[in-house]
Amino acid sequence: MMISRVSAESKKRLLLGVTGGVAAYKAAELARLLAQDGMDVHTMMTQAACRFVGPVTFQSLTGHTVYTDLWDANTTQNMAHINLSRSADMILVAPASADFIAKLAHGSADDLLTTVCLARDCPLMIAPAMNRQMWENPATQRNISLLRQDGIKIIGPASGEQACGEIGMGRMLEAAELAQAVQAAIYATALLQDKNVLITAGPTFEAIDAVRGITNRSSGKMGYAIARTAAEAGAAVTLISGPVCLVPPDVDKFIPVVSAEDMLRAVQTEIAQTDIFISVAAVADYRVAHVNQQKIKKSAGNLALELIPNPDILTFVSGLPKPPFCVGFAAETENLEKNAAIKRRKKNVPLLVANLAQHAIGSDESELILFDDTGQHILPKASKMQQARHLIKHIHRLYSQQQ
Ligand code: C5P
Repeated sequence: MMISRVSAESKKRLLLGVTGGVAAYKAAELARLLAQDGMDVHTMMTQAACRFVGPVTFQSLTGHTVYTDLWDANTTQNMAHINLSRSADMILVAPASADFIAKLAHGSADDLLTTVCLARDCPLMIAPAMNRQMWENPATQRNISLLRQDGIKIIGPASGEQACGEIGMGRMLEAAELAQAVQAAIYATALLQDKNVLITAGPTFEAIDAVRGITNRSSGKMGYAIARTAAEAGAAVTLISGPVCLVPPDVDKFIPVVSAEDMLRAVQTEIAQTDIFISVAAVADYRVAHVNQQKIKKSAGNLALELIPNPDILTFVSGLPKPPFCVGFAAETENLEKNAAIKRRKKNVPLLVANLAQHAIGSDESELILFDDTGQHILPKASKMQQARHLIKHIHRLYSQQQ
């Protein structure tokens, strides 16, 4: 049997421009999120930005020198303003102040950031952040529409309470939202264009009584990462999720459920339109036979619960007369390879993804082994987003061969 080790792909490179505004602190969190997901982030800060957050913060979070000055004689970058943008996949300016937007709209180049933006040959996205009246001012709106005409992507702002205490449009989007937008733009492919992908994620919760229940330790992170990367690959994504503490990703349809039976019903409703079914959810194997509508009173004696098996959702789908391409997950605590191979046959799926549960649960990283007809493919430890992108490519390859 063939065993291959999938090597890491070259990192994508983002130039992060930070201008002067209170929201600069959110840009530090954004840099952390993107670097953690495996992106190479290089930061450029205006002089005003350095008054809000220190360059050392970005240097520590990204592991790279921060550029602040067009005239820095010590820079290792000869012609920094040209070289910086040549090696980048994309530039994001967050926060983008009203003053920076005005300069960008008029082609001004009087500091490093504006010069790099003018000399760029890669896509540019900006996340405006300013007081609501500055945002509403006709001059700013004129500049924004000029930027749109120039093909610059504007993301946000959002409405809400501002640092000045006023309420209105002008707040920069949150770091997690910006990170998703950057990833969607940088990693966009058409691998799953026109495909309907159905994903189950998270645990299920099986009630015992009005307040208690049985569940699994599953954060939902892997399933949510797969939903996001399937969307990056152009798929129409439906995500059915058990109860988790994550913000739902930007997908076509998000269906929250509680129990395994709820999850099965949702899958049955959606499955007819599905091309690819990815069953990531940690479905509880059993549920309580008789759920008590009131809270069971504590007593000194033992309490016996009768448990009955839950339906196996993946086996139901793979057993349909015309099943979609099915992908199963196996979280094992021992004998990973043997158990995974057995599970792939038992569940009758072309691809099974295995991981060691005690390492993966709740973590932002995982090591995966993909089992298919050709053998095993090891994805060495990486962030769940990176693993999800590898997985989507692998699914695309197998799915295309089947057609
Ligand atoms: O049998 P086991 O729970 O280890 O199988 C794991 C795989 O089967 C996962 O893909 C999981 O989503 C799926 N599964 C399911 N319904 C169940 C139990 C597991 O769809 N009741």
